[in-house]
Amino acid sequence: MRGIRQHVNPLGLHYSIPRAQPLTRPQHLPADAPVEVELGCADAQFSFQLARHAPDTWVCGLEIREPWVARNLRRVARENIQNLSFGYVNLNVDLDRVFAPRSVDRFHLLFPDPWFKDKHKKRRVVEPSLCRTIIEQLRPGGELHIASDIFEITLEAMAEIEGSEEFSRHFENLAGPWSFWRGNPFAVASRREDTTLRRGQRVWRVRYRVDHGDS
Ligand SMILES: C[S@@+](CC[C@H](N)C(=O)[O-])C[C@H]1O[C@@H](n2cnc3c(N)ncnc32)[C@H](O)[C@@H]1O
Repeated sequence: MRGIRQHVNPLGLHYSIPRAQPLTRPQHLPADAPVEVELGCADAQFSFQLARHAPDTWVCGLEIREPWVARNLRRVARENIQNLSFGYVNLNVDLDRVFAPRSVDRFHLLFPDPWFKDKHKKRRVVEPSLCRTIIEQLRPGGELHIASDIFEITLEAMAEIEGSEEFSRHFENLAGPWSFWRGNPFAVASRREDTTLRRGQRVWRVRYRVDHGDS
């Protein structure tokens, strides 16, 4: 998209200071309305479609590239969509500031960037602090949905979750241990998913149900 940088460095100083803001639930939605969040939404095709498909759900798109946040907010206003919000986040720094504990029904992490490489570091998209925040912010029985066109990314996310004593207790793979979910169970798709399928490539998808272990 013209005018928006392809990538930013989430490890850069500018993005390492926590500054994400809590999102405010639209007033017309009840406190127990379902909440679905797209993490790293870019143009948010998935979130726009989901908000239209499920008008009683509060849909939120979060993104590190602020020009996308601004552009999506302008589109929400233009199209007068009442149940869709957008905000800035650096997933590896300040997602914990955006939602209250146990308030989110589903996180969608769709086609996350592979990892940012600089001279010294590689960083996984799904890493322990993000897993902890997701567990904390999901409601009991809530879901983490991850999809990617890159097998290794999905496998690394699975390894982070299912290969870890800490996280495997809290996440149940809905397709069975170490298994991919076949097909898209949602009525909507992100832009990157459309592109992947158009190219005849496979989408690698996993779905996890959270268990806080206290019921
Ligand atoms: C490949 S795009 C996918 C966009 C969309 N979800 C889709 O499926 O079409 C990945 C997005 O994640 C965002 N992103 C990468 N690292 C991030 C981070 N640490 N925090 C928040 N967003 C991030 C990127 O800026 C980019 O917009």
